[in-house]
Amino acid sequence: MPSPFETDAGLLALAARFPAGFHLGASTSAFQIEGATRADGRGRSWWDDFCDQPGRIADGSNGDVACDHYRRWREDLDLIASLGHNAYRFSVAWPRVLPQGRGAVNSAGLDHYERLVDGLLERGIAPYLTLYHWDLPSPLAKAGGWQVRDTASAFAEFADVVARRLGDRVHSYATLNEPRCAAFVGHLEGRHAPGWQDGAAAVRAAHHLLLAHGLAMPALRANTRQARCGIVLDVKPYDPADPNSAADVAAAHAGDGVFNRWFLDPIFRGHYPQDVWDGFGSWAPEVHAGDMAAIAAPIDTLGINYYTRAVVSAVPGEVYPGLVEVRVPGQHYSHMGWEDHPDGLRRMLRRLHEDYRVPDLFIAENGAAEPDVLSPEGRVDDPARLRYLQGHLAVVAEAIEAGVPLSAHLVWSLMDNFEWGRGYVPRFGLLYVDYANGQRRILKRSGAWHSALAKAALTGGAARS
Ligand code: FCB
Repeated sequence: MPSPFETDAGLLALAARFPAGFHLGASTSAFQIEGATRADGRGRSWWDDFCDQPGRIADGSNGDVACDHYRRWREDLDLIASLGHNAYRFSVAWPRVLPQGRGAVNSAGLDHYERLVDGLLERGIAPYLTLYHWDLPSPLAKAGGWQVRDTASAFAEFADVVARRLGDRVHSYATLNEPRCAAFVGHLEGRHAPGWQDGAAAVRAAHHLLLAHGLAMPALRANTRQARCGIVLDVKPYDPADPNSAADVAAAHAGDGVFNRWFLDPIFRGHYPQDVWDGFGSWAPEVHAGDMAAIAAPIDTLGINYYTRAVVSAVPGEVYPGLVEVRVPGQHYSHMGWEDHPDGLRRMLRRLHEDYRVPDLFIAENGAAEPDVLSPEGRVDDPARLRYLQGHLAVVAEAIEAGVPLSAHLVWSLMDNFEWGRGYVPRFGLLYVDYANGQRRILKRSGAWHSALAKAALTGGAARS
């Protein structure tokens, strides 16, 4: 039985709910798709170094080839255009542009992103550029990485170099992708570069990442007049496993504090949330005069990455925030073990709009990894991802109707790619990548549906305006 959104009438009705000019497209990041890690003067990043350490990446892989996008960018842009997308999010590899992290600019690296941006514009696709999607240049990592304040200044110099060249050709600049993940997954959970397990280091990294964002904003402003400038945060609601348990409710509040409020409050309110500060205790960061004002510099737009919610039980005696995530029986969990829960997106959007008064929001990442199989006929039938996208896009339409200032929905990901510590096993793409057979890109069933939706929305939008 196809879902109501899969029939022609259902798809057209959904498409008509997106206003004219709304962006529908997909996202990627440099290290996950580019490959060509030694081409044209690129320096090394700490992700190259992390992949070199035995046991760090589940399938023993690295980013050396990835989807070979650095070489195939023209065909990939043609593919994006053929899908009917009117926006595309990518990131700039810092070590391609500044191989030492700061100082001498590698013009050849910058040329690549200039060609990419111009190629998008020629095809009528709005460029969404992220400056830092986790690939810190190795020389900066060796000098202390995000433990040292000076890395924030180096990042602002990088932002200046990129925005000086690309200026208003970029529709939307994001300083950082998911500082929460970069800080906590990299420095506390140890699953991402640099692979540490040190709480104080994680909170220090988070502060310096936020500072980097704050110092980069003026650099973006100085080089742009129309481009929208902001940051991308990962958000998820925390629900108590037992809503009648005071301990679970408190654990959910603490989880929300570490995951969401620790990043949202500084940016939109200019201070860290006191309960989380107290909860961190000796991990609390060293904040210098002026830091909070810099971090709270007004932004034009907030990108959010939404995948799932957390359902949590309290674990007494466990390190702050003292909780464990539990599964809800009967729900669908993706290949990543993430619940398909569109209502969490609805709730987060409402909260960002009502509590934080975010001026403009876009969904920078939203999608699902499923164990896709390429059939002998060359097809990928992925009903779970299709259901996921349909459910979440319906929530997006509903939020727009409820007055949330939403301007784009971008699927993670355009194509299957290097999923960090899990290597190439989880597949998130609208396009299947056949790595072993010439890197063929094959449109999945969900991708075909998404493309039909984007095309119908474009036509509907034209008719509406
Ligand atoms: C996000 C990352 C993105 C991708 C998805 C699955 O945290 O921003 O690069 O790995 O998760």
